[in-house]
Amino acid sequence: MPTSIVNVTTTESEQQLIVQRPPDGVALRGRIRVPGDKSISHRALMLGAIATGETTIEGLLLGEDPRSSAGCFQALGAQISELNEQQVKVRGVGVGNLSEPMDILDAGNSGTTMRLMLGILASHPDRFFAVTGDKSLRSRPMSRVVQPLQQMGAQIWGRDRGRVAPLAIQGQPLHPIHYRSPVASAQVKSCILLAALMAEGDTTVTEPALSRDHSERMLKAFGADIVTDRESKSVTLTGPAQLTGQLVVVPGDISSAAFWLVAAAIVPGSELTIENVGVNPTRTGILDALAMMEADIQLENQRTIAGEPVADIRVRHSSLQGCLLSGEMIPRAIDEIPILAVAAAFAKGKTVIRDAAELRVKESDRLAVMASVLTKMGAKVTELPDGLEISGGSALTGTDADSHDDHRVAMSVAIAALNATGTTTIHHAEAAAISYPDFVPTLQNLCGDPGKIPAQEASKT
Ligand code: S3P
Repeated sequence: MPTSIVNVTTTESEQQLIVQRPPDGVALRGRIRVPGDKSISHRALMLGAIATGETTIEGLLLGEDPRSSAGCFQALGAQISELNEQQVKVRGVGVGNLSEPMDILDAGNSGTTMRLMLGILASHPDRFFAVTGDKSLRSRPMSRVVQPLQQMGAQIWGRDRGRVAPLAIQGQPLHPIHYRSPVASAQVKSCILLAALMAEGDTTVTEPALSRDHSERMLKAFGADIVTDRESKSVTLTGPAQLTGQLVVVPGDISSAAFWLVAAAIVPGSELTIENVGVNPTRTGILDALAMMEADIQLENQRTIAGEPVADIRVRHSSLQGCLLSGEMIPRAIDEIPILAVAAAFAKGKTVIRDAAELRVKESDRLAVMASVLTKMGAKVTELPDGLEISGGSALTGTDADSHDDHRVAMSVAIAALNATGTTTIHHAEAAAISYPDFVPTLQNLCGDPGKIPAQEASKT
C-alpha cells in the first residue's frame, strides 16, 4: 500500500497532482464543507463596491477569481478590507461613482469579473478604462457583452473588432434596451442588468433558458427595482437605481461540492455529507443529473440564508446508470459537465450530453479536453459539436493528464483518478486554486486513512 494516495510536486513552472489509487480502492467518508460560492462572492464584492455604505461579506471564496474582482474594484476606488472567510467589509462609492483607475484593470482568469465589470464601467460617463486578463481570458468571447452594451450606447474597443480583450471603454450615459440573448448566460444577463443601474427606464433581458439568478436576488436585496418573469424567462430592471450596502452570507459552492458528490457516488464504500451548500434551483442541475443517473443523494437541513436556499447534501456510493443530459438542465449544470462526464464514464450504459456547446468557450474547450483525457484513461467517448457521448462502465487506467490551466478539468481528473487503476499525474494542477484553493488538502484528508474502512468491506454495508 502506498504511504500516500495523493501527492503534490511543485516545480518552477507547475504543480503536479499525483493520485495513486490503492489496489483495494479508497472509500471517502465523513462530513466536509466546501468554500464559498464563486458567483455569489463576485457579486457581493461588486455590488458592495458600487453601493453606498458598508457591505459585510461572510464566507467569501478566497479563490483567485474573486481576488481578481476585489483587485479591480479596489483600483476603481472601493475600500475592501483584507480578504478572509470570516468577514470582509466593503465600503462602496455609490452607483456611478467609481473613479478612473491609473492603470489597466486585470481580471486574471475570471470571465465573471470581466463581463460583469464591463457593464458597470461602460455606464460611467467621462471615465476611461482598459481591461485585460490572462491568456485564457484574452481568448474568450467578449462580443456577447460588448454588443448589447453597444446597443445601450456604450463605446468599447478591443482586439478582433472588440470581440476579445484587452478592451478599452470610454464610459457613456446609457439607455435602456430589451435584449433577447442568444445564449443562456448569467454573465451576459448580469452585465446588462449592472449597466441598466445607470440607464433611465426599463431594461429587460430575455434568455433562451433560465441561467443562475444570483444577480437578481442580490440586486433586489441591495434595493434595486427588479422583476423576474419566469414564464417569459425575462428580467426587468428599472433605472436609475441606488444600492445600499448589505450583509451577504455566502453559501458553499455547489459547483465545488459537485466533485465530492460524484467522487462519493462512484467510489465503492463512500458516504459523504457536504454541509452548507447553496441549492438555488438555477444551480441544481447537478443534483437532477445525478438523480437521473440513480445516485443515492439526499438533501438535509434545508433552509434559506440571506436570500439563498442552502442544504446539507448526503451522498452514498451506488451503481450509476447512463442518461440523457440536455436542454434547460444544461445552463443549470453548466460548470458541472466535466465532472458529470467523469460520472458517466463510471455509469452503466450510454450517457449523452447535448446542447452544451457553451463548454467550448469556458476556461478551456471543456468538451475537447474532457473527451481527450477520459479517452486516454480508457473510457469510450465520442465528441459531438455540442456535447459528448460516453459509453460507461469500462475500467479506467491512470494516465498523464494536463489541466489546460482549467480549474474544473484539474479537479474532475483527480476524481476520475480515485477510481482508475494505477497512477494519474495531473499537470498544472495549481489551476484548482481559481475556485477551490483547499481542494488538494481536502482530497488528502478524505484519502488519509484507506486502511480504516477497507473499501470492499464498506461497500457491503
Ligand atoms: C457565472 C456564469 C456561468 C458560469 C461561470 C460563472 C456567473 O458562465 O459558467 O462559471 O457567475 O455568472 P456563463 O454566464 O458564461 O454561462
